[in-house]
Amino acid sequence: MDAGFRRMNGDKAGQGSMYLEEKTTKPGVLSCIFSLKEGVGALVKALKLFEEKGINLTHIESRPSSTNKQEYEFFVSVDSTCTKALDDVIEGLGTLISGHVYELSRNKQKDTVPWFPNHIQDLDRFANQILSYGSELDADHPGFTDPAYRARRKEFADIAYNYRHGQPIPTVMYTEDEKNTWGTVFKELKTLYPTHACHEHNRVFPLLEKYCGYRQDNIPQLEDISHFLQSCTGFRLRPVAGLLSSRDFLAGLAFRVFHSTQYIRHGSRPMYTPEPDICHELLGHVPLFADPGFAQFSQEIGLASLGAPDDYIEKLATVYWFTVEFGLCRQGSEIRAYGAGLLSSFGELKYSLTDKPKLEPFLPEKTCLQKYPITEFQPVYYVAESFDDAKEKVRKYAATIPRPFSVRYNPYTQNIEVLDSTQQLTNLADTISGEIGILCNALRKME
Ligand SMILES: [Fe+2]
Repeated sequence: MDAGFRRMNGDKAGQGSMYLEEKTTKPGVLSCIFSLKEGVGALVKALKLFEEKGINLTHIESRPSSTNKQEYEFFVSVDSTCTKALDDVIEGLGTLISGHVYELSRNKQKDTVPWFPNHIQDLDRFANQILSYGSELDADHPGFTDPAYRARRKEFADIAYNYRHGQPIPTVMYTEDEKNTWGTVFKELKTLYPTHACHEHNRVFPLLEKYCGYRQDNIPQLEDISHFLQSCTGFRLRPVAGLLSSRDFLAGLAFRVFHSTQYIRHGSRPMYTPEPDICHELLGHVPLFADPGFAQFSQEIGLASLGAPDDYIEKLATVYWFTVEFGLCRQGSEIRAYGAGLLSSFGELKYSLTDKPKLEPFLPEKTCLQKYPITEFQPVYYVAESFDDAKEKVRKYAATIPRPFSVRYNPYTQNIEVLDSTQQLTNLADTISGEIGILCNALRKME
């Protein structure tokens, strides 16, 4: 079976989490970020609060706020002996100055908000914090003893490692052997799609054949597909050099960015791969990312992950597993597959629609707790009523994740907006108001 996402992200969920902490050799240093509206004396007023409580600042730096152009953010560190007094200062900052305060490194378990990318370009940071490099194969990998395959894998890993947002994804000249492997997988799976794949997959697949070079004798290029997806739903692909943590992988979805492998499985076993490869990404994932409902659903999971505590990242990764990777969907009187792990695995796609596995309704709060094997067919699948229904359920589940703010993606600026100030909410209300105006006009013209 295709171990897909779990291999890519799973067991190491939580590792490599990027807490915003000052790197210091001193134990017990406390840090916080607060924002202030631009104005004469604002910083003096804030610093006076520290002074009045007898707190010595060991470090301070400033930057323009990335979420509100009228504000500045200040990062300060103080000695941990000032814990009690710092409580008073933080309270004072929050009320007297009407600024926003994020406490960063005190009681990490309880209070810390993990770092998350704010702008789409911040995803570049993930390129060099992969958990393992693409050429490092496990001893049971079909290509483990093949030096030519390993060298080829390094070529792909290097492309991804050096890739930066905004650049075209380099074109790859696939070898005849690689094309043959692709052709075998492509041909076999295509025979199953009309009867096993969801309608959305079957609707998009011919478009990929028409516009992106999906053919038995051709491995499509990520750059072409990325352009196609952007024109359909705004989703784009980014090459990835190795394993990402669940947190990083899910964060990409918040920006409608999908981290995709570019290499292909070893030719000795064309119907098997222990990890995601280009067959899995292009045949399993890509068609669905061209569907607006599914794109929104995927982004919803990504947005829910931003700044979520580690245990919730694991839960969201499980929700992702049972939907984007192994989801089934009710369509009329039938059940069809929409998960990429199924749509890219001939054996499991057939198995999933037999009466052997157990089927359960998709309920995020329940699904997120389900244990699952990663090296064999799934014993249980979750069935979504529709992508819209699944999206609403994920949205409601996301609201239960403990984090002190809500987020929204702004596609114009490609920024994540943290909705924790009246200014941000006013901006959002203005945007919605503009959209409602367009809707009303359109309705009037149709009358
Ligand atoms: Fe996958």
